[in-house]
Amino acid sequence: MDHLVVVTGASAGLGAALLAAAPAGAHRVDVSRSGRAPEGGSHLALDLAEPAAWPVFGQAFARLVSERDWDRITVVHNAGTLQPIGFAGEVDTDAYTRNVLLNSAAGQVLGHLVLQAVRDRDARRELLLISSGAATNPRAGWSSYGAAKAAGDQWVRAVGEEQAERGGVRVLSVAPGVVATAMQAHIRATDASDFPGVERFQALHDAGELLDPDDVARRLWDVLDDPDVPTGAVLDLRDRA
Ligand SMILES: NC(=O)c1ccc[n+]([C@@H]2O[C@H](COP(=O)([O-])OP(=O)(O)OC[C@H]3O[C@@H](n4cnc5c(N)ncnc54)[C@H](OP(=O)(O)O)[C@@H]3O)[C@@H](O)[C@H]2O)c1
Repeated sequence: MDHLVVVTGASAGLGAALLAAAPAGAHRVDVSRSGRAPEGGSHLALDLAEPAAWPVFGQAFARLVSERDWDRITVVHNAGTLQPIGFAGEVDTDAYTRNVLLNSAAGQVLGHLVLQAVRDRDARRELLLISSGAATNPRAGWSSYGAAKAAGDQWVRAVGEEQAERGGVRVLSVAPGVVATAMQAHIRATDASDFPGVERFQALHDAGELLDPDDVARRLWDVLDDPDVPTGAVLDLRDRA
């Protein structure tokens, strides 16, 4: 089977695990600033917090799509950042703007470009956004991150309705749970004055309750392979048996 798998933010953490867990033989593509071409794949070096990078992604993705008669095309928008952790009105404005652009705007615009590029393709097509429990649980210190994840969820609900009517692309949003990545290490190292909820995450770590990225990646692929999960679904992996 000719399977194209594109994962944003696959240079590290959950994205790297997602790309590694892709079905055997898939053509793998990482889109990030610091990544490298994975075995049997390619790397697109882009800073997705820069709006100028989005049409570059769109063109590169459309080229990839037209290169082969793919049987399956899977895109996971996983790139994300918590930086700057801190209170709105106190954090650095440029860093806050980059957070909004990467976490909120990039997912929607890249999603649009993906749908545009695969619109007339006769392939199984799926687009997964990586969400977070922060989409529904407000957390002081993570205002733009949580707002962005909520926006991604709502985008998926609306676009899911659209694709059910015409288009046929399966769009999903899935929160992975608390995963042992650099993002979690960064959270634990934050001062409580910037993130009052830090103790909970330190306690989860100390209790050995952080999830293994490889396990989470396998479970996310199970969701993609589950025919009972319809387009437009917004899920939390922790709610799945
Ligand atoms: N870890 C958790 O507990 C947890 C919980 C809920 C949701 N999530 C979500 O899971 C996803 C992955 O998180 P993670 O924990 O694996 O984080 P991570 O270890 O910090 O990795 C983040 C990835 O995003 C990429 N990235 C960051 N800024 C970027 C930019 N401006 N342009 C392009 N790529 C960028 C990074 O690549 P470069 O630095 O090379 O660009 C890296 O590959 C995120 O969407 C996060 O919100 C994580």
